[in-house]
Amino acid sequence: MSDYFFAAYQILYEQIIRPLIFRSSAQDAHRRMLRLLTWLDRSPLLCGLLVRLRRLITKSHYVRTGGVTLRSPLILAAGLVKGEGFADETDALVAVAGGRNIMPGWRSMPALAGLVEFGSFTRHPRLGNPGEVVWRDEAARSTQNRIGLKNPGARVAAAFLARHRHDLPAQFGINVAASPGVTDPEQETAEVLEAFGAFIEQGIRPAWFTLNLSCPNTEDDPTGRQTEDQTRRLCGAVVTLLRAKQVNTPLWVKISPGLAAEQYGILMRVFHEVGVRGVIATNTLSRPTPTDSVLTAGVGGGRLHQHALEAARCLAQEKAHYGYAVDIIGCGGALDGDTAQAFLSSGAAAVQYWSALIYRGPLAAAVIERELERGRTACAGRPHPAGS
Ligand SMILES: Cc1cc2nc3c(=O)[nH]c(=O)nc-3n(C[C@H](O)[C@H](O)[C@H](O)COP(=O)(O)O)c2cc1C
Repeated sequence: MSDYFFAAYQILYEQIIRPLIFRSSAQDAHRRMLRLLTWLDRSPLLCGLLVRLRRLITKSHYVRTGGVTLRSPLILAAGLVKGEGFADETDALVAVAGGRNIMPGWRSMPALAGLVEFGSFTRHPRLGNPGEVVWRDEAARSTQNRIGLKNPGARVAAAFLARHRHDLPAQFGINVAASPGVTDPEQETAEVLEAFGAFIEQGIRPAWFTLNLSCPNTEDDPTGRQTEDQTRRLCGAVVTLLRAKQVNTPLWVKISPGLAAEQYGILMRVFHEVGVRGVIATNTLSRPTPTDSVLTAGVGGGRLHQHALEAARCLAQEKAHYGYAVDIIGCGGALDGDTAQAFLSSGAAAVQYWSALIYRGPLAAAVIERELERGRTACAGRPHPAGS
């Protein structure tokens, strides 16, 4: 039955729905997707049916990584379920108190995709960048964005999730980003701690927390927070906070592609020393936008894949060589079974995806998991080389 289901789904999405979506700009399609998610979020009944459908077509495949046992090796990466942008925290809190859904997809995306990382959330709300901020490169199955950390702010996001605490998925992640533009180290650390503290105070306990040290779309230096000193200060402070509050949620960190091998080595050592349990490799790759070569935006999908894979391999080598207790979560161009498997074969135990949602549709995780499963079965069926 599931063979027929997947065949029909792939024809429906890839040959009918996706061409229709791609008739409009990536920006318009993104806006429409968020509107659809808001509409779906309204119906617990419909979302419950989506959960049932997902369970029917996917097998539970538990993986232990980053200090947590996940129900699936595939996670929807940060950046979709993150909420509206606001200029002011009070306005955003009023919207939450008034019952408005300020976080499109909070109920429907986990129903459709399973594991989801919410965020990134910064300490204060952000409106993000104006104008055209999302593009796609269909031939390369890539996305590009300079959304600029648009989000309602950590305190408001925490209040919103607390309001819906009984309807939150069993497992999800929360991604917090350091505040762009804050250069004073003390203020930077204080704001990161306040952001994590907001979720802790509201009793929100995700399966993992992520600290996003790599924000290529905010005109900050994309590698600025990934120096040894800053990484040690920020990660160390968050781990200390979690321990002090007796929260045993593991901390993961998200880093950039394209760093020098030596820098990845330093980062892995720091993560191990301060108690970070997972590293997401990677965020997007900063490149000029298709419409204005002076502006840069983060590339995801096919054009990112090799860069992200190189980063993951480099981190995995460091882990193997020094025995670091830090797991690698691959991210970047995991669009099908082969590209997801490339991360798993490189030493990652789990994989995050974003662009696959655009190119493989709302059931991307189920489709990729199935392709992974088929790849494993094909490998198992192959004769072993002589002598092995
Ligand atoms: C529209 C958009 C918004 C994103 N926003 C965030 C974000 O807020 N925080 C973050 O850590 N990553 C963000 N990302 C990056 C993704 O989480 C992911 O790391 C990246 O797209 C690479 O994965 P992919 O190749 O599967 O797309 C965003 C990506 C896209 C396309």
